[in-house]
Amino acid sequence: DRLPALLAAMPKAELHIHIEGSLEPELIFALAQRNGVAIPYASVEELRKAYAFTNLQSFLDIYYAGASVLLKEQDFYDMTWAYLEKAAADNVVRSEIFFDPQTHTARGVAMQTVIDGLHRACTDAKAKLGVDAELILCFLRHLSEEDAFDTLEQALPFKDKFIGVGLDSSEVGHPPEKFARVFAKCRALGLHLVAHAGEEGPPAYVWSALDVLKVERIDHGVQSPKDPELVKRLAKDRIPLTVCPLSNLKLCVFPQLADHNLKALLDAGLVATVNSDDPAYFGGYMNENFLQTFAATGMTAQHAYQLARNSFEGSFAREADKRRYI
Ligand code: ADE
Ligand code: ZN
Repeated sequence: DRLPALLAAMPKAELHIHIEGSLEPELIFALAQRNGVAIPYASVEELRKAYAFTNLQSFLDIYYAGASVLLKEQDFYDMTWAYLEKAAADNVVRSEIFFDPQTHTARGVAMQTVIDGLHRACTDAKAKLGVDAELILCFLRHLSEEDAFDTLEQALPFKDKFIGVGLDSSEVGHPPEKFARVFAKCRALGLHLVAHAGEEGPPAYVWSALDVLKVERIDHGVQSPKDPELVKRLAKDRIPLTVCPLSNLKLCVFPQLADHNLKALLDAGLVATVNSDDPAYFGGYMNENFLQTFAATGMTAQHAYQLARNSFEGSFAREADKRRYI
């Protein structure tokens, strides 16, 4: 069977990776020591044992605690570089990396420290790894719209270092329309727009991400098939869905990988893609997501090519760069 080799070797784009979710337990401990930050776990093994999640919130609590060891520009660089080396090994040639500045600025870390560290790693990756990486700033939806506006203002001096904005964190109870005005401002500034919707939340959140926020892609979107009219809309407008199979498994969105709807989304003609979300927490980077999902669902080489093609079609890369792979 040559499918695993094809999945590993094919060039691909990653469109949904939270850089703070790439922080491995070993690096959390190393940075905690380097920065003199106390963490409530005695060892790497003990921390890893805490990675038993029941839903999105149970994960987010540990994810934000893990990010508390990041203080210096070099910390943000080291985290991003470690991810980009893994991406390169998985034949990821383009990566659009989410970051959560509010997680850091709320602890007194300067916006410039965060963005400079992340961006320097992206620049080095192009030259040394052949990975074309760019940044997408995410607003935390459990915080207020005012806090999002404040964050945008702090980031605008560095606007040449990120290509768009997204919306993440606790979904249910925080619908996209809460951020209508800040997304309208980002749109006017010429930034790309994406939002998490339909991970745990209802199809109504996918509709409002599209029609109120006017996003270009939906992150997750796996609840969309509950509304057949929404599936028609996603197909008609070729809205990419950045699906994260191992994340959905670990956060109990689907009971088993075999129950995942990725194959059904592709077979319905949607522009679905495979992504790692928070690979250090969910048990695998890009190729692990591909390999495990194909093994569990019976997808074929045709699906593999479609997923690779979709990842470039859905990316915000320059048209000339996309055409090299489509
Ligand atoms: N932040 C990091 N990972 C996330 C996810 N899967 N959903 C929402 N917010 C996130
Ligand atoms: Zn995500």
